[in-house]
Amino acid sequence: MTERQRPIGIFDSGIGGLTVLKEIFDRLPAENTIYLGDTARVPYGIRSPETVTRYSFENTRFLSSKDVKILVIACNTASSVSLDAVRRSFPVPVVGVIEPGAKAAAAATKRKKIGVIGTEATVRSSSYSRAIQAIDPAIEVFGIPCPLFVPLVEEGWTDGQITEMVAERYLADMRQKDIDTLVLGCTHYPLLKHVLSKVMGDGVTLIDSAIETAHAISTILAAQGLTNIPGQLVRHEFYVTDSPQKFLSVGERFLGRAIENIEKIQLEMEV
Ligand code: DGL
Repeated sequence: MTERQRPIGIFDSGIGGLTVLKEIFDRLPAENTIYLGDTARVPYGIRSPETVTRYSFENTRFLSSKDVKILVIACNTASSVSLDAVRRSFPVPVVGVIEPGAKAAAAATKRKKIGVIGTEATVRSSSYSRAIQAIDPAIEVFGIPCPLFVPLVEEGWTDGQITEMVAERYLADMRQKDIDTLVLGCTHYPLLKHVLSKVMGDGVTLIDSAIETAHAISTILAAQGLTNIPGQLVRHEFYVTDSPQKFLSVGERFLGRAIENIEKIQLEMEV
């Protein structure tokens, strides 16, 4: 296998990162990919930074053993609390979802007021605020955790009255802040775009970190001469840490295509 043919490695706490993988498939169809969903330990969004960082290292070690050419932390929570530590410890380029989303949000806002929604851990970490204010310190950032969105999406309730009511309740304060840009700071939220734009109104631009991350990956691969040559057979592998059953049924909805080559694995724990 040549340098260019080596796979892109992606990990997430579970199924959600498939929204990022979907964008990678769209933007980089010639790339081989390996996706790891840590389904035995999902959700990460309610855990401490120390625990999530330990999980990130274990996931990264697994993907490194598969000789990936670039590592993507598709999980907003894991990117928020462990990106720097993972970057320092592994030799391949590491891409998280926060910086690409923050960059797109900073470019989109006109009134310099941005909302960020995500898991408790992501919002508590202020990762998006820091990344946005590093670009423009004059931008105000308001964060609100929306933990119920994850189970709603996994249940397939991406539309309808109940989901709209939950969104209205979570976003009531946000609507008072006069924001013009809202970052969907969690892997599951791109599936709620319809409801979120209905609740926030036409005047608010939704930023999909998954799309921005695929764009960032493509830029890094091109800059390092690592983009795969089109026209070859492409392979996509999936690994999960719990039974593949739920991952398969829900995951195919996230990905919009069939999932093959899936295997349950046991991660090596840190001692
Ligand atoms: N993947 C997580 C994120 O983007 C959401 C699910 C979880 O809490 O693990 O933050």
